[in-house]
Amino acid sequence: MLYKLKVRFLKTVWGNLLWRKWKVWRKHHVGSYDRLPEFIKNYIFPDASFVDIGCMWGVNGEYAFLAEKLGATVVKGVDVFGPTPEFEDKKKERNSSVEFILGDITSADTIKRVGIVDIVFCAGVLYHHPSPFDLLVALRRICKKTLILRTSAIPEIKGLPNAAVFYPMLKPEDRRLWNLKNLGLLKQKGITEKFDPEEGYGNWFWGLTPSCLTSLLQTAGFQIEYRFNEPFSQTFICKPVTVTFAHNLPDEAEARNMASVISSAGKAHPA
Ligand SMILES: C[S@@+](CC[C@H](N)C(=O)[O-])C[C@H]1O[C@@H](n2cnc3c(N)ncnc32)[C@H](O)[C@@H]1O
Repeated sequence: MLYKLKVRFLKTVWGNLLWRKWKVWRKHHVGSYDRLPEFIKNYIFPDASFVDIGCMWGVNGEYAFLAEKLGATVVKGVDVFGPTPEFEDKKKERNSSVEFILGDITSADTIKRVGIVDIVFCAGVLYHHPSPFDLLVALRRICKKTLILRTSAIPEIKGLPNAAVFYPMLKPEDRRLWNLKNLGLLKQKGITEKFDPEEGYGNWFWGLTPSCLTSLLQTAGFQIEYRFNEPFSQTFICKPVTVTFAHNLPDEAEARNMASVISSAGKAHPA
């Protein structure tokens, strides 16, 4: 109940503003969508390679063009639709060599086409994926030096670390809590209206708390260098550290051997 009151308070324009002022006054790292170009500028270096995952909707490749302007030489943008005419026009105007890749970043084929890239930028995509961990593992596979990740999120739930909300199939009265109309988000498919399977990634799937996002990133193989907090969004700057998460599937002979060791040890019991 208290949590719902907190969410409702943070959804108001003045509540949100008050929260920001308080955090800034306490010298916390506070994020905003408008800071994304600054984050790209901070991490780009001459001749870097850069990819924007989810580069098209409403931005028409703008972050990829910015990276190129700042000195990145191999620049790619990935999206599940496009390229838009605006993207094509910008590309021509700037005589740009930004490459657009049509593909789903969680598919092996797209990961292969992107290759390994110094800076991976991904904003506004994670909560649109039904399996956010798979998306983070995909980002880890293509990331050489830095991941800049911004995503919609929900406020931390005190006493329940790593919590998350799955939006599809919530009742209309339960979806209402996550409606961010007051903060300027007019349409959130799957929240302002019910989940529509035909809309695919257009739906909002997950409301992840900051602690849940942190654990997902670490499990996927990232170390978090900075986290920029906002009531309903988070931006992370990460470095790839450990090996990418993968379950190693043994070959048939190895698998038989494992099975025989497990059986003779008598340690497998019905769960
Ligand atoms: C909410 S928009 C964000 C656009 C932009 N990155 C921004 O922050 O303003 C999400 C974008 O990600 C794309 N997208 C969603 N899922 C994707 C996936 N699995 N692989 C690649 N792109 C995806 C969508 O088509 C859309 O262009």
